[in-house]
Amino acid sequence: MLAAGRAGRHRRQSHRSVASGTRYTIREWMQPHPAPSPRMQSDPQLDSPSPLASESQAHATPPMPLQPQQTRTPYHISGRADEQALVDEFKGKPLTALRTPALIIDRAIFARNCAMMHERAKSWGASFRAHVKSHKTAEGTRLQLSSSVDTTHAIVVSTIMEACEVLRAGLLVDGMVNDILYGLPLALNKVADLSALWDQCFPFNCHFRVLVDHPEQIRFVEAWEQQRGSKRRWSVFIKVDCGLKRAGMQPTDPVFEELLTKALNSPFICVYGFYTHGGHSYSATSLPSATAFLSKEIDAVNSAAGLALQILANSPGALPHENPFVLAIGSTPTAHAATPEARGFLSALNGRLEIHAGNYPLLDLQMLHTGLVDAGSVAQRVLATIISYYPARGEDGTDEAMCDAGAIAMSKETGPIEGYGMVVDKPWRLSRVSQEHGILTQTRSFTREEREGKDPGTRLKIGDNVSIFCQHACLTLANFPWYYVVDSDGPDGAKNVCSVWVPWKGW
Ligand SMILES: Cc1ncc(COP(=O)(O)O)c(C=O)c1O
Repeated sequence: MLAAGRAGRHRRQSHRSVASGTRYTIREWMQPHPAPSPRMQSDPQLDSPSPLASESQAHATPPMPLQPQQTRTPYHISGRADEQALVDEFKGKPLTALRTPALIIDRAIFARNCAMMHERAKSWGASFRAHVKSHKTAEGTRLQLSSSVDTTHAIVVSTIMEACEVLRAGLLVDGMVNDILYGLPLALNKVADLSALWDQCFPFNCHFRVLVDHPEQIRFVEAWEQQRGSKRRWSVFIKVDCGLKRAGMQPTDPVFEELLTKALNSPFICVYGFYTHGGHSYSATSLPSATAFLSKEIDAVNSAAGLALQILANSPGALPHENPFVLAIGSTPTAHAATPEARGFLSALNGRLEIHAGNYPLLDLQMLHTGLVDAGSVAQRVLATIISYYPARGEDGTDEAMCDAGAIAMSKETGPIEGYGMVVDKPWRLSRVSQEHGILTQTRSFTREEREGKDPGTRLKIGDNVSIFCQHACLTLANFPWYYVVDSDGPDGAKNVCSVWVPWKGW
């Protein structure tokens, strides 16, 4: 009922916003934000500003006592290529005509991967939260949220700019997104921007959530709200480490209990749940090993939630928090391990499951190495041109070739599969990269027939186009100002550009 009510309010709000042209302006982003309408604070799920927040003094942006002197995210002046001009220029062009290096996305494969992930979450009875950082585009986000299998409205962003661009793209206005999580631990230098983002999300009934993994961050929030003169409760996920040793603490860490106690008892925090990210699961090489990482993720968030329930049971005066807690698990490899069989092993949990992932629509060599996907599901590749050739220069007298995709196109990311990239359907890998040069080496010696030119498919010559799978899609896509989109389900079999997506840049 609550959900239906929200959707109704949301639609009305959206029309009003569009009609009155209240999308972001420079003034709105850089200066104090318009007053959100007051809402009841008794529902912790609404994580709303309290009625106090509508008092005029509550909307001044107060300085934090410890706030470093940093500029705000310059959202209002960030530059992006003109997408319509690119579509006009390139739509219908064959891939062979494109200036290389070029990043190609197959929309049909991308969409199938999104549907497959919705299927996994559905089969687990879990909600799904799409991380948008791998492609950073409005078009990709829409496909992640709405597939042939299901729809979700929850996203994770890894930068303030991504969240701003999601707003600018109209994804809140049209109701596609109603829940945004800023996916790095709450940072002192970004509290002002995060607070402003929350204000911007509020009129659209869009939840804005943050991650915390240190008691100091709770202190930032409290100091911020006290100076702002409001009593909003920030909706937070407590970040839990399941072995990656990046963000978050393990539930057994004594500081974790301190963090939890502080969060659960703070008048400015509403604990939404526990979030872990098994990024180290990319080292899995089979479904059983990915399942083992998945089970570590579940253990981590489940024990954290168990601890929280114990603390709450001993804190009769504590404000309400999300009930049941959300247990957020994921990464592309572990999300692929969320099979119906693995669901059968789950026992009673201290919350409800939410799966998150980001790389899954695109995929890359690191995912291919896990054995959980095949080359036919990789939706992106870099198109490069052979610009020089060096017979017998390589090991054992093998040939080397130079292409125009170097480190700036591919990134210097490595992985268990050797090299910086693998040429699709040819026995060549990208073994060395300088800024704009890429050196391709043979993955095996040519057979006699190949040397004699009887099997030209495996040889390379100057002027050839090659498609290269990169190691890590998120880092490679970030290097390109736009992506050429093809559609392998379309009549031309992905030979021609059908669209262009322009990614968001900056922090
Ligand atoms: C906090 C967080 N959540 C989710 C993801 C998505 O992981 P993946 O790209 O493996 O799906 C990442 C990726 O780094 C992340 O940092």
